[in-house]
Amino acid sequence: MAVSALIVALTGLALPTSAGAATAGQPGSTPRVINGDLSTAGQFPYLVALLSANRYASEGAFEAQFCGGTLTTPTTVVTAAHCVVDKGAVAGPRTILIGIGRDLSAQSLRVVEVAAVTANPAYNDDSAANDVAVLTLAAPVTDVPSLLPISPAEAASGLSAGTALQVAGWGNMSTTGKDFPAVFRVGNLVLFPDSTCGGGASYTYNGVKFDGFDVGDADPATMLCAAGVGGAGQRIDSCQGDSGGPVVATVAGAARLIGIVSWGEECASRFPGVYTRVSAEYDFLVANGAIVALAPSQPPTITVASEASALKVTFVPASDGSSPTAFAATALDPVTGQVFNCSTASSVTAAPASCSIAGLTNGTAYQVTAIAGGALGNSPATAPVIASPVPLATAGTISRVVNLGRGVARFFVTATADNGAPLTALRVVCQVPGRNAGTRSADITGESATVTGLRAKRYRCYVQAINAAGVSNGQAIAVKLKRR
Ligand code: ARG
Repeated sequence: MAVSALIVALTGLALPTSAGAATAGQPGSTPRVINGDLSTAGQFPYLVALLSANRYASEGAFEAQFCGGTLTTPTTVVTAAHCVVDKGAVAGPRTILIGIGRDLSAQSLRVVEVAAVTANPAYNDDSAANDVAVLTLAAPVTDVPSLLPISPAEAASGLSAGTALQVAGWGNMSTTGKDFPAVFRVGNLVLFPDSTCGGGASYTYNGVKFDGFDVGDADPATMLCAAGVGGAGQRIDSCQGDSGGPVVATVAGAARLIGIVSWGEECASRFPGVYTRVSAEYDFLVANGAIVALAPSQPPTITVASEASALKVTFVPASDGSSPTAFAATALDPVTGQVFNCSTASSVTAAPASCSIAGLTNGTAYQVTAIAGGALGNSPATAPVIASPVPLATAGTISRVVNLGRGVARFFVTATADNGAPLTALRVVCQVPGRNAGTRSADITGESATVTGLRAKRYRCYVQAINAAGVSNGQAIAVKLKRR
């Protein structure tokens, strides 16, 4: 389960003994993250090393490193709770230093002090649920790019099994011994299905079969499972010392922190690695300043549907890292210059937000634009969408009923006018008065419809015509079917 790397750091159990101590990896496999690659300059600028302040003073950064972390704002590092919590006690801020730089043995390694350590109160030491903590820095780091944690909305639309991920850290490169790098390593992973992360399902990736974690062992509500397979079929995984470090995905073109190295079953075993599901920790991260609020920088995506004297606009927020609180749409009549509006609160979880711009003239071509708005400002407007409200159809009426017996009747109808918006349905509907059950209907072809299954004695029947503007019901008539 969740090996506390802090304990490891204090006892020195899993720490490297010297920078050059190359413990042999498995025969035939190059030691890495486990089977990862050497990072290149400029990669993962937001990856930081958590250093034990005591050991840093006596032995230097390489020996002092015990976990990874991610700079998510100039003043916050997001890491794993198990890196900073020992038997329910949170490490004091002065016991930890933040190392910034690729090479822990380099003189140029920058070291920053920590002002506060906040572990998620919902972190569970036994299950490793909510394995996340925020370190608040004593001074802002403004010259290093930070990485934005993924929002629940982005995760819902942008993450699925098979999504390419990367993990980075200074963790063990050997599955059999200890081999810690001075320069951090990068592993290419894929996101595993949730069913492998507490549903017991296995998963085969690149021809390599992985076992899944059973119910009770992992929980997909707060955890992600991921692993990689290299070109020669070797399993790629994070390992001891990588904990707290980032798992990164590109979502809608932008890099996001989606996971935090949390735990595993050995390293690069038959099981995937388990990572804190960052989107599930969003509220905790916002509450602790680890997510900068952003004004929406991109307009929402809209669809416009014609209604009677109205246009219904449906909004999908852009994946720009912002959290819009509302959407607004405008319909401009380019001839008269008249402007009409509607607005709605945004919804993260429920169906896409929509609103109807009312009071419009049927048949007029309006230019519809929309914006997303948040506490910090509004997005630019969408490009205009041209749309016209359409009138409801004028449904015809039933002119004659021929009882064919055995519950079958033929209805002759007068013409229905579509009023310019093509019909999507035209039918005769017969309802049992005062009841929803027993409603029967049949499409009108030519000038009649044959309705079957009319088992009740009395019906009210009418012509129903549907177009983009909605449903138009014609005058209903009473139909009494004598048995014959
Ligand atoms: N708990 C470990 C740490 O403290 C991370 C283990 C990750 N294991 C894995 N197989 N992915 O560094």
